[in-house]
Amino acid sequence: MRVLSVASECAPLVKTGGLADVAGALPGALAPHGVDMRVLLPGYPSVLEALPETREVLSLGALHGGTARILAADAQGLSLFVLEAPHLYDRGGTIYLDPEGRDWEDNPERFAALCRAGAEIAAGRAGWTPQVVHGHDWQAGFLPYYLSRDGTDVPFVLTIHNIAFPGFADPWRIKWLGLDQADFHSEGVEYWGRVSSLKTGLVWADRITTVSPRYAYELTTPAFGMGFDGLISKRRADLTGILNGIDTDIWDPVRDHAIRRFRGWRTKSAATAALREEMGLPASAGPLAVVISRLTQQKGLDLLLQALPDFLDRGGQLVLLGSGDREMEGAWRAASAAHEGLAVTIGYDETLSHRMMAGGEAVLVPSRFEPCGLTQLYGLRYGAIPVVARVGGLADTVVDANDAGLKSGAATGIVHDPDDAGALSLALDRLVTLYGEVETWTRMVRNAMRHPVGWDVSAGRYVELYRDLSPDP
Ligand code: ADP
Ligand code: GLC
Repeated sequence: MRVLSVASECAPLVKTGGLADVAGALPGALAPHGVDMRVLLPGYPSVLEALPETREVLSLGALHGGTARILAADAQGLSLFVLEAPHLYDRGGTIYLDPEGRDWEDNPERFAALCRAGAEIAAGRAGWTPQVVHGHDWQAGFLPYYLSRDGTDVPFVLTIHNIAFPGFADPWRIKWLGLDQADFHSEGVEYWGRVSSLKTGLVWADRITTVSPRYAYELTTPAFGMGFDGLISKRRADLTGILNGIDTDIWDPVRDHAIRRFRGWRTKSAATAALREEMGLPASAGPLAVVISRLTQQKGLDLLLQALPDFLDRGGQLVLLGSGDREMEGAWRAASAAHEGLAVTIGYDETLSHRMMAGGEAVLVPSRFEPCGLTQLYGLRYGAIPVVARVGGLADTVVDANDAGLKSGAATGIVHDPDDAGALSLALDRLVTLYGEVETWTRMVRNAMRHPVGWDVSAGRYVELYRDLSPDP
C-alpha cells in the first residue's frame, strides 16, 4: 500500500507542535503493516540542509511567483518528497509567521503550492504513484480540490489536528490559488465571505479523521467546532477519531539519552531531585509539576496562573517550559520572579523537555480544547501523573482518580472540567492530597507507566481506513 502524506511540518526535520511528531512517526508505525508512506514537505532551509542527498524527480516550472521543483530524499528514516521553492520557503521568521509574529501574508500561496506538488505526485508524474493521499490540517486543504479538478482518481484523507486554524485567504486570490470562482459559495470553498483551505479540504476529502474519538464528537458541536460544526456534522459518516500515539523509542524512560538518573519508577525521586537542582528549586514535601507547551489561549495556562498561588502555598512546585504569545510569556516571567516554587524557561528545548518528564511528578495540561495532546502521553510513560482538562484526547487518555478509578486500580491521573480556574484549583488540591498518600500514589504512577501510549492500535486503524478506500486489486 503506497500512501503519500502531505504535511507542513515533520519531526525531527521541522517542528512547531504535535503535528510534526505525528507526521514524523506515522511512516515508521505503518511500515510493519506493509504501508510505504512517503512524506511531502515544504523545502524550508532547515529541511534542505538536513538532507544528505537529493535528486530532482519533477520540475514544476513557475509556481506562485518563482520556479519550483520536487526533490526526493531519504533522511532520518523517512522517505521524503521536498518542494523546493525558495521564493516561498527560504526566509526568516518561523515557518508560519513573519519576524513580527504575524502570519506570512502569502501563506495561502505557500501551502497551495504544497498541495499543487502533492497533486502532481498523485498523478504519477514524480515516478511513484500513491494509492491514497493523506493530508494534514489546513495546509493540505486544497489538495483534494486539485485532485478532483485534475481528474486524478486517488482517494484523499484529511486529518484535522486542530480546527482553530481555518487557513483563510481573501477572495481576490481565488484564481491565483487555482480555484474556480463558481465554487465560491457556502457549499464550496467559501467561509463567511473568505476562502478557507480547511473548509475546502472538509468538503472535497473522501474521508476525514481527527486525532481522538472525543474530539471527533466535539467537532460536531458549536462549542468546539469553531463554525465548522454544521459541515462536519453533515459529514459525520465519513469522520473517524483515531488517537495519536507517541514514538516510544524517542520517549523511552529506560533508554533516554537526555536523562541519566532515571531508570523506571523506583528511581523517579533521583530524577526529581536532579530537576529541582537544575531549576534552582528548594526541596519540598509537595509534588513537582511540569508544563511543556505552546503559550496560547488554547492551552489554558492563564487559568493555571490564577490557580498557581494556592498550589504553591500547599507545597507544590512548578517547572514551565514554553513559548508563544508575547503577553503570556511576559505574565509567566513575572510570576516566576514573584514565586519561589516556580521556575520558568521561555523558549523551545527538546532535551530539557525530556529531563522535565523524567523529573516531573505531575504534568499539567489545563487546555480549553485539545484535539489529542501529546505531553500527557509522555507523562504517563515517564510516571509524571497527568492533571488534565476533560476535553478531546486528554479525556480519552487519562483515567480520573475518582473513587471508582482508585478502587478498581485503573486511575492514571486527575481529570477536571475545563475553562475554569476554580475547577483547576480543586484538581491541584486533589493532586497534593493524593501525592501525600504514598501507597495510592505509587500505585497510580505504576499504572500510568503501564498504560499503552504507542502507535500499535492506531496504526492498525489507519491501515483499515486506507484499505477501505483503496482495496487491493
Ligand atoms: P500542540 O501540537 O497543540 O502544540 P501537543 O501536545 O500535541 O500540542 O504537542 C506539542 C509537542 O511540542 C510535544 O511534543 C511537546 O513536547 C512539544 N513542545 C511544546 N512546547 C515545547 C517547548 N517549549 N520546548 C520543547 N518542546 C515543546
Ligand atoms: C494539534 C493539537 C494537539 C495534537 C496535535 C497532533 O496541534 O493541538 O492536541 O496532539 O495536533 O495531532
